[in-house]
Amino acid sequence: MAEDLTIIAGNKTEQYQSLVPQIRGLLEGETDLVANLANVAAALKEQFGWLWVGFYIVKNDELVVGPFQGPVACTRIKKGKGVCGTSWAGRKTIIVPDVEKFPGHIACSSLSKSEIVVPIIRNNEVVAVLDVDSEEVDRYDGTDQQYLEEIVNLIVF
Ligand code: SME
Repeated sequence: MAEDLTIIAGNKTEQYQSLVPQIRGLLEGETDLVANLANVAAALKEQFGWLWVGFYIVKNDELVVGPFQGPVACTRIKKGKGVCGTSWAGRKTIIVPDVEKFPGHIACSSLSKSEIVVPIIRNNEVVAVLDVDSEEVDRYDGTDQQYLEEIVNLIVF
């Protein structure tokens, strides 16, 4: 089966609306978590070209880097630390328009200027977070939050 992604131009909403059904298709019938996280990260990276797209997975009370696309990243993040650990602790999506203004931001890449982190909650527990970074300041807004939350909810943990 061909697994080519159709990449479209258009505004952000149009791009997400093209991508979401394709991600649903990629995930359909596949139960392997690593495979699914890898394909979601790749699909987002291909459509949007962001600097870094990936997952941190909760393991033994730490976040450990999982499947991602982009430059090498810090391996482990503690609860409450950085944007990822803060999203985990607060169980909420965090949009950071300017990473230099977020106290405790963990700079995996000096190129990252803005970021959004979406917690993935199953059975009332955060099991992972989706972290997305851009080289542009103020890249993420409520539209990204809405669609990225929808996308992570498609993943079976
Ligand atoms: N900036 C994140 C760390 C992860 S990297 O950006 C890939 C943070 O502050 O949690």
